[in-house]
Amino acid sequence: MNNKKVLLGVSGGIAVYKALDVISRLKKKGIEVKVIMTKSATEFVTPLSFQSLSENPVVINMFDEPKAWEIQHISLAKWADLVVVVPATANIIGKVANGIADDMLSTTIMATKAEVIFCPAMNTNMYENKIVQKNMATLKDLGYGFINPASGRLACGDIGRGKLENTEIIAEKIIKKLSSKSRDFEGKNVLVTAGPTIVPIDPVRYLTNRSTGKMGYEIAKEARDRGANVTLISGPTSLDIPTGINFIKVNTNEEMLNAVLDNFNDSNIVVKSAAVADFNVKEYSKEKIKKTDSNLVIELERDKDILETLGKQKTNQIIVGFAAESSNVIENAKAKLKRKNIDYIVANDITSNDTGFASDDNKVTIISSLGDVISLDKMSKREVAKNIFDMIKGR
Ligand code: CTP
Repeated sequence: MNNKKVLLGVSGGIAVYKALDVISRLKKKGIEVKVIMTKSATEFVTPLSFQSLSENPVVINMFDEPKAWEIQHISLAKWADLVVVVPATANIIGKVANGIADDMLSTTIMATKAEVIFCPAMNTNMYENKIVQKNMATLKDLGYGFINPASGRLACGDIGRGKLENTEIIAEKIIKKLSSKSRDFEGKNVLVTAGPTIVPIDPVRYLTNRSTGKMGYEIAKEARDRGANVTLISGPTSLDIPTGINFIKVNTNEEMLNAVLDNFNDSNIVVKSAAVADFNVKEYSKEKIKKTDSNLVIELERDKDILETLGKQKTNQIIVGFAAESSNVIENAKAKLKRKNIDYIVANDITSNDTGFASDDNKVTIISSLGDVISLDKMSKREVAKNIFDMIKGR
């Protein structure tokens, strides 16, 4: 665990003293810890205790004299591999969820690209308050992590949920998180495509497919978190653009092909999870097509297969394709792998309702050109992404 850096945010509640135990557990594993306390946290335990255990100066005030020329909330935000708030009060959760950055801790959380985990601790009624619950849901949706409080006797004498999770469990979860944060793709250029493409018919109508882009966005985020320089080329989706990557938005097969080719030579790894339209309308109508009494026939012609184009041009790139299949999944995927001359194909059965398109989970089999076949259980799309990169790394 040497070289791992945790920024511990301490906000003011009776559980502040427990954060000291988290620090000592992390330090025993060789993890470097720096601490930001809110003003009210210092009312419960002195900063000196945190300074002694972390062996680093504790930051409290936004306007403390910076040691060097660096602006402190930015330098700490960049320094951290992981930010953990122990204990997290309703106040800090509410501030971050609502974009308020008015002290050192909230400003640093706003400025960091590192993963942030909140460990809430508060009175049961506060914890169950709808506003607090809504703020936590907002943060979860935005990708912030939580270590939920336990139930038990609280400082105020009430019994219920709101007690800071056991510090041993908090430390274990932090350590596990850090060990999964290896930057094993540092310096690699990873190109990812995601989402659907559209086929314009006339100025108001288009054809598309059910891809939501979730799988590809998770692949891009996984590669980014493992140190890669990521370019994400995405068709239209309603997802938030991941931070810390190069993002190119496209609409059509042709636009995606051009963007991919522009970036292909510089890429080490290409993951094509986009659901690209295989057909284009033969004649796009510049005018809106008016309805008549007869049926409308739109002729479609074959469009380019981007993945096949890459397979023909590839030099040293590792190329990963996807295969959306509704029958004979493995056989069809193997045939695609060969036909498109790529290194891996991730096959998924799109007939299942709780995996595949629009779902947060996926159940896939990864097949390599060397003959390896790995069938994974149903898991989150992020975990699927992790498995794909683990497999590439193994090669
Ligand atoms: N793909 C592509 N260009 C296309 C169609 C597909 O680059 N015009 C890529 C997809 O991004 C995916 C892989 O090819 O990585 C397989 O896509 P899929 O839709 O499963 O297969 P198709 O090759 O289109 O074959 P079919 O529709 O016959 O199953």
